[in-house]
Amino acid sequence: MMKQFEGRTAMVTGAGKNIGKEIALAFAKSGANVIVCDYNPQNAEETVQEIEALGVGAMAAVCDVRDREKIFAYVAAAVERFGKIDFLVNNAGGSAGLLNKLTRFVDAEQSTLDFVIDTNLKGAFHCSQAVLPSMIAQKYGKIINISSIAAICGLYDRVDYAAAKAGMIGMSKALAMEVGEFNICVNCVSPGAIERDGAKWAHMTYMGEDGHAGTPKDIADTVLFLAYQDYITGENIVVDGGRSLGPSHR
Ligand SMILES: NC(=O)c1ccc[n+]([C@@H]2O[C@H](COP(=O)([O-])OP(=O)(O)OC[C@H]3O[C@@H](n4cnc5c(N)ncnc54)[C@H](O)[C@@H]3O)[C@@H](O)[C@H]2O)c1
Repeated sequence: MMKQFEGRTAMVTGAGKNIGKEIALAFAKSGANVIVCDYNPQNAEETVQEIEALGVGAMAAVCDVRDREKIFAYVAAAVERFGKIDFLVNNAGGSAGLLNKLTRFVDAEQSTLDFVIDTNLKGAFHCSQAVLPSMIAQKYGKIINISSIAAICGLYDRVDYAAAKAGMIGMSKALAMEVGEFNICVNCVSPGAIERDGAKWAHMTYMGEDGHAGTPKDIADTVLFLAYQDYITGENIVVDGGRSLGPSHR
C-alpha cells in the first residue's frame, strides 16, 4: 500500500534526539525521505540509520542552523539528491539553559541573547530561505515552526527564549501571507512541557490524574497533521495538555 508521503522529502532540524527525532521518524514512517539536520554528528547519524532501516532515503546535514552558508549548501545537496524539499520543520532550538546561562534579563550577556535569538529565530530564517526556492518552483510546500508556550505565556529567566519563540509565530503569519499563492503553508506548533531524554514530569498540566507532561509523539502527531493539511496557514497550534490555561486548582 502506498504511504501518504511516498516520494516526498522532509527536512527536520534538531532531528538528532527527542522531539526532532520523533518528527523525523514520523515522516519516514509515512514514506518520506528525510534530511536530518543536527549539529551533533553522532545523534544525526543514529537518526539517519533508524530512518534508512524503515526503507526510505535519509541524509545527515551536520551543521548548526546558525550557520547560514552551511544550511544553504546542505539544502542544495539535498535538492540535488532528492529532487526537491516538500516539508521543513524548524525544530532546532532551546534556551540559554543550553549554555548553562539562564538568568534574569537585566543580567543577561549580549552573547547569550544573540545565541538564543540566532538559534531559534534566525536558524528558522536561514532554513526557510534555503528551502523556499524549491517549494516555490514546485508550487507546494509546508513549513512548520516549533515555537513554545513561552511565546504566549512568558517564562521566567528566559526573556530571550520567549521573544525568539514569539518571533517564530510572527514570522509564520507574515510568511504565510507571502507564499500562499504558491500553495505553501506556514504554521507553528507550540509545545508545553514535553518529556526530554526519557525524563517524565507530573503536576504540570490538566491531563490525567497526575497532570503529566506530553511526549515527543504528541508533537510529531501535530506536525504530521499540519503536513497533511493544504488549507491551514498562519496558525499556531498549542500542544500543552492545558498548561497555558493557567494554574490548576484541582
Ligand atoms: N521539550 C520541551 O518541553 C519543549 C517545550 C517547548 C518548546 N520546545 C521546543 O521544541 C524543540 C525541541 O525541543 P527538545 O526538548 O526536543 O530539545 P533537545 O535539546 O532535547 O534536542 C534538540 C536537538 O537539536 C539539536 N540542536 C540544538 N541546537 C542546534 C543548532 N543550533 N543547530 C543544529 N542542531 C541543534 C541538538 O543537538 C538536539 O539534537 C526546541 O525548539 C524547543 O525549544 C521544547
